[in-house]
Amino acid sequence: MSDSNLWRDAADDIYWYRAPATLLDDSNSPFNRWFPDGITNACYNAVDIHVEEGRGSQLAVIYDSPVTATKRNYTFDQLLDEVSRFAGVLASQGVEKGDRVIVYMPMVPEALIAMLACARIGAIHSVVFGGFASNELAVRIDDASPRVIVSASCGVEPNRVVEYKPLLDEAIRLASHKPSACIILQRPVQEATLVEGRDLDWAQAMSGAQPVPCVPVNANDPLYILYTSGTTGQPKGVVRDTGGSIVSLKWSMKNIYNVHPGEVYWAASDVGWVVGHSYIVYGPLFNGNTTLIYEGKPVGTPDPGAFWRVIQEYDVKVLFTAPTAFRAIRKEDPQGKYLASYDHSGLRALFLAGERCDPNTLEWAQQQLQVPVIDHWWQTETGWSICANCLGIEQLPIVPGSPARAVPGYDVQVLDSDGNQVAPGVIGALVIKLPLPPGTFTTLWHAEERFVKAYFSRFPGYYETGDAGYIDDKGYVFVMARTDDVINVAGHRLSTGAMEEVLADHPDVAECAVIGIADAMKGQLPLGLLVLNAGISRDPAEIVAEAIQLVRERIGPVAAFKLCAVVERLPKTRSGKILRGTMRNIADGESWKMPATIDDPAIIDEVSLALKQLGLPAG
Ligand code: COA
Ligand code: AMP
Repeated sequence: MSDSNLWRDAADDIYWYRAPATLLDDSNSPFNRWFPDGITNACYNAVDIHVEEGRGSQLAVIYDSPVTATKRNYTFDQLLDEVSRFAGVLASQGVEKGDRVIVYMPMVPEALIAMLACARIGAIHSVVFGGFASNELAVRIDDASPRVIVSASCGVEPNRVVEYKPLLDEAIRLASHKPSACIILQRPVQEATLVEGRDLDWAQAMSGAQPVPCVPVNANDPLYILYTSGTTGQPKGVVRDTGGSIVSLKWSMKNIYNVHPGEVYWAASDVGWVVGHSYIVYGPLFNGNTTLIYEGKPVGTPDPGAFWRVIQEYDVKVLFTAPTAFRAIRKEDPQGKYLASYDHSGLRALFLAGERCDPNTLEWAQQQLQVPVIDHWWQTETGWSICANCLGIEQLPIVPGSPARAVPGYDVQVLDSDGNQVAPGVIGALVIKLPLPPGTFTTLWHAEERFVKAYFSRFPGYYETGDAGYIDDKGYVFVMARTDDVINVAGHRLSTGAMEEVLADHPDVAECAVIGIADAMKGQLPLGLLVLNAGISRDPAEIVAEAIQLVRERIGPVAAFKLCAVVERLPKTRSGKILRGTMRNIADGESWKMPATIDDPAIIDEVSLALKQLGLPAG
């Protein structure tokens, strides 16, 4: 099927107040606009439509929280009631179409309700992952300038209660922009002190709230902004539009994941990440599936049987998570003993994404679950998968190490540094020929120049994914590594550049480098190397501890920055470029060659020694 027929048919499958006459306006590429004259609403397509079509008593959302020993269900009727009343709360706080609302919440159903309530009134939500610290939140507050922030008193990690409210208060103090109100969900685990005149209690606000109807919006009106890591400390505000998101996500539920309305679909991720936006909240609900909000981990809540318990209890048909979750389970239960005590016969497929899936993990999962394990490749920018084995179209043979072929709508190619296509099997930059399909990002929030420069300038006519890889002679794509300073830690995308900016702020640090090194469980871990200012006589161990704390405070615990050492100098080329690749190879114990351009080979020995002292293979 041609792409235009594909997207015309997919568009016919959603609800429009006014159906689009134009499929694509590509007159101002790369600012391509799908369905430009369509009028719709994402909340209507996720919630109201199911009630109007008679599925109001079907389960829409299951909340399962082993960390608080809570379970709760919402039918579509109940979800409509909650969402339309919370939209009323937002409206009563002056939130209008086009206004931004930041959602900084743990994995509770109220996060999903807040997102849908924004969509209902045409407000643009920007969800910030709970593992980010005040400073990161402040940067996003200043960029998105929200009228209202929705948050909770706390999050619950297995080892501790994370008080969100002090983090939020500090972020608002740091930010230049001030929201006019904060709506705080008080959780029984730990209630927060509210700021008089600014903060509202979620429950109190909801008790008197009037439901409001959906506001029709243009297909190209933003549904949300989601910040993701780039090469610097300034995150990129990925903007996704409304019409493209509804059309692409609904299409993907049937064609990629092969799930049918009424079935339980579980993306074990977090609403703060793109996987959460697309496949905890919007995709399943557009398709009339029951979605699961799981506030727990794959292991330790309480054991490595946690996922199997959930699959059995709710008859999950398709599970989507990151490979790191399966590496964590395998580490604690290599024989799959826990799995044997649960019935997982309803599960049809496991989808993995968020990081490269090593063949061992894929094969282990397949052997345990005895269902197709589908690696699929996508990014915050694309919003849904670029490459996948589309189970709803035709299942291709599974090739471990490859997320299979390009999904319909994506023309994936590999280019060399001069922009020429390379032969099958040859590594180069993975790019997508324009136009990108519906549902991919339309711009970066208030940063159109950066949008063009970062993604479309190196290879005109193509979107540069930032990943390197190759395509084999059967069209299977292999995604091997990032071409920039982005690293992937436990499926979380992080910027080494941002960590370097934080470390460079330490008063004793003259120079630093952060590299991503291999980790058997999390895929990658950040490692920092510090060169101190001349004349510093303090104990280097103290400075290292402060540096680690600084990254935790400024970026957040999710950075998992725990490996750090002081070195005399950093290895550099004669032109002054830090040899990050060489250090990475040394740290990983891989074979490496002394770069011909190195300024002083003796520095390599010093760095190797420091890495060995950190317990790394450093060969
Ligand atoms: N709020 C506050 N803190 C958070 C948080 C949140 N929402 N999420 C994570 N953190 C903290 C953790 O408590 C941990 O802190 P610590 O250093 O004090 O222990 C730190 O951030 C790192 O968290 P995480 O990366 O989750 O590591 P972990 O060791 O706690 O768990 C896994 C490891 C593999 C079990 C976990 O990463 C996981 O379940 N991953 C699934 C993958 C996933 O969801 N990917 C998202 C994209 S699909
Ligand atoms: P994020 O934007 O957080 O979803 O991270 C996107 C990045 O994660 C991609 O650019 C890849 O580097 C990596 N990634 C995601 N899925 C895969 C996959 N299936 N295989 C290899 N890398 C992946």
